[in-house]
Amino acid sequence: MNLNGSITLVPPHKHNRSATISIQDEPKTMLRLGVLISGRGSNLQSLIADSQTPDAVTEIGCVISNVAEAPGLAHAEDAQIPSTTLSHKGFASRQDYDARLARILHEHNVDLVCLAGFMRILDQAFVTDWYGKLINIHPSLLPAFKGLNVHQRVIESGVRLSGCTVHFVSPEMDEGPTIGQAAVPVLPEDTEETLGARVLACEHVLYPRVVRAIANGHISLKDNVVRYNTSEIASTLTLHAGLSAATV
Ligand code: GRF
Repeated sequence: MNLNGSITLVPPHKHNRSATISIQDEPKTMLRLGVLISGRGSNLQSLIADSQTPDAVTEIGCVISNVAEAPGLAHAEDAQIPSTTLSHKGFASRQDYDARLARILHEHNVDLVCLAGFMRILDQAFVTDWYGKLINIHPSLLPAFKGLNVHQRVIESGVRLSGCTVHFVSPEMDEGPTIGQAAVPVLPEDTEETLGARVLACEHVLYPRVVRAIANGHISLKDNVVRYNTSEIASTLTLHAGLSAATV
């Protein structure tokens, strides 16, 4: 796999799809991330690792889990990143929960929210407020195979390619402008586990790469379409791993 790349961010503002949104008009020293998790946290780990490199362009302002037992919280603790559990219990509505979530993100001066296995649907108002500053990683080549149990459904469908997608989040589940994708083969002998592991390895490369591209100001959003500063940036976010060298 050959993977290299770069992105741009700004403070949360109201959603205006015809405006050009560039998360970082004036590139700041560090783009502050808020990472939302519910479980294992391996993508969180890859974002932490990237923020600890000598040429890092991001820092993680806070990690929020909706599940108290999420193993991923330990990664935040190990890296001395502020983290908290925000359970939905005690909130009267999804709107109330999401408003509290937004407050925590603002308190930590978060520029970009990264969903990393966060198993809650976000309210439309939250998604609208953070439009252009809210990204997600999904373990399929969207728009194919939205939702859960992706790898099993991919295998059962008989498709020969799968992969992962990083996209800006729109109110609809697993939808929104695609920023980057990585493709992997689906092998005849694959199980959910083997395919899942192949895809996950790509997720760990693609997600930090997309976040870097945003932090470096290489990506903007206009009319709900992602624009890249250069075609080279676009190609660094279009990856494939383990595919044969056959050409068309
Ligand atoms: C990943 O496969 C991601 O694509 C999906 O949820 C999973 C989270 O895994 N949205 P992890 O918690 O980051 O290990």
